[in-house]
Amino acid sequence: MTAALVLGGGGGIGAAVTRRLAKTHDVTITHHGHPERAQALTEELSGAGRTVTALSVDATTEHGVVTAFDAAEQTGDLTVVVDCVGGWDYPKVTELTMEQIQDSVSLNLVSALLVLREAAKRVSDGGRIVMVSSAAAAVAPARQSTYAAAKAGLEAATRVTAKEVAKRGVTVNAVRPGSTDTEYMRSITADKAVEAMAKSNAMKRLGTPEDIAGAVMMLVDDDAGWVTGTVLDATGGLQ
Ligand SMILES: NC(=O)c1ccc[n+]([C@@H]2O[C@H](COP(=O)([O-])OP(=O)(O)OC[C@H]3O[C@@H](n4cnc5c(N)ncnc54)[C@H](OP(=O)(O)O)[C@@H]3O)[C@@H](O)[C@H]2O)c1
Repeated sequence: MTAALVLGGGGGIGAAVTRRLAKTHDVTITHHGHPERAQALTEELSGAGRTVTALSVDATTEHGVVTAFDAAEQTGDLTVVVDCVGGWDYPKVTELTMEQIQDSVSLNLVSALLVLREAAKRVSDGGRIVMVSSAAAAVAPARQSTYAAAKAGLEAATRVTAKEVAKRGVTVNAVRPGSTDTEYMRSITADKAVEAMAKSNAMKRLGTPEDIAGAVMMLVDDDAGWVTGTVLDATGGLQ
């Protein structure tokens, strides 16, 4: 089997991606605040005879991201990297503190740049890099200024990286989820807002982590070798 790395692979969307990739790859997943979720996932998938290794890293640091790639490379030829690290809350722009700005940019953009740097160097020829963005990058919702800005930056850096690695046949794309039903999203969003978000797209429901994993897998597929530097909208038709 070849190796895959899923940063944030124990999280809501990340776990759905990990379950899919573990059918064909030895997968290294990273976690940060919730080691128990990553541990439960490795036990679930090991029970199914797959090799999934979890490690704790802080993806906002160079050391953390380099450590994650070092571990993944130990397991085999690294052909797929998926970056699911990110997070947000809902501060008004007028109330932003310096700390909030720095934290959001570190989590959603600095970490993505570090992942793109390491992935561009280490993914094998013909490999796949998929970055998880957000509809916020395009829709620019109220109270998501830092998050929208950081995810827009992630998408720009994705397009740039695609050009720099194209000679090796490596593709670099982003998936842009809309509101997706994860523990994290529910923990920071009022019930009324969740209801409104579910009605805002053409499908009239929240996305599921499996919906987003499906979009990621479209870009990982062998048939996607000519698709690079793009953003795949996975919002259920949020326009
Ligand atoms: N859910 C949505 O509605 C939605 C919509 C659009 C985009 N997204 C994006 O989708 C991705 C996954 O979101 P989710 O809803 O599945 O939330 P989640 O479960 O919290 O996933 C985020 C992942 O990032 C990891 N993480 C957080 N801080 C980290 C740090 N400093 N270093 C390393 N890892 C860190 C978390 O680790 P632990 O597992 O240890 O907590 C978790 O695995 C994020 O990039 C998010 O911005 C989500």
